[in-house]
Amino acid sequence: MKKGLIKKVCASALVGVMVMSLMACGKKEEKNNLTAIKDNGKVVVGLSADYAPYEFHAVVDGEDKTVGFDVELAKEVAKDLGVDLEIKEMDFEALIGALQAGQIDMIISGMNPDEERKKQIDFSDIYYEAQHAVLVNSADKEKYKKIDDLNGKKIGAQLGSTQQKIAEDKIQAGKISLLASVNDLVLQLKSGKVDAIVTEEPVAKMANKTNPELVLSDISFKDESGGNAIGVKKDSKELVEAVNKTIKRLKDSGDLDKFIIDANDLAAKNQSK
Ligand code: ARG
Repeated sequence: MKKGLIKKVCASALVGVMVMSLMACGKKEEKNNLTAIKDNGKVVVGLSADYAPYEFHAVVDGEDKTVGFDVELAKEVAKDLGVDLEIKEMDFEALIGALQAGQIDMIISGMNPDEERKKQIDFSDIYYEAQHAVLVNSADKEKYKKIDDLNGKKIGAQLGSTQQKIAEDKIQAGKISLLASVNDLVLQLKSGKVDAIVTEEPVAKMANKTNPELVLSDISFKDESGGNAIGVKKDSKELVEAVNKTIKRLKDSGDLDKFIIDANDLAAKNQSK
């Protein structure tokens, strides 16, 4: 009898422990991406710093820094989340994979929230709108007036970017040169290895400011994704809400506009590398 009772008590205690540990497991799974960042005390933002004025390298007070309006936006996001900011630089093409693998918490890199990417990751509201431009050597400006003028030409675009799709789908290019870095594309254009490159218009304008021998052609492509947004892991409702609050605050206060003006000034002054 006594033995039977002990067995019963033990069994129910065991069941209790199992239920509790199951609950604990459940809680862990429920821990959302926002809570995870807060618990970690830092947010890791991934970007490709080859995209002035969005993100680029500049010498500030004698030191090489990663700057740009995306970086300022990242700082504000971290501030509102109450955590430190860590910037992880990588090729643009690697960002989505890094986010999915948990190597970074978010992407702030002038990314367009297009339909294909939306299947893989979630996006914030739009924080900036820009069209896509075609940058050429100034000596060639008269040659490139309409899209057909690019037929059969060598077109450069960043690997894994919206501009890659534009080059592939909207231009009858003879050859498409896909490089990981926009800075390298600019070099290819200057040396005549490509005839034109497609980038976001503010980036093309900045390339023209820092390389006067390059100019915007009359050709442009309308952005079909609505603009640039912050990318986060799938199913990050709470995190998206938090990030959207920061974006709204910066838009309403005019701070975002200020960041954009400052980033343009800084990029124009600095020799981006
Ligand atoms: N907006 C384009 C895209 O989403 C290009 C962004 C490139 N950004 C960069 N930091 N290089 O694909």
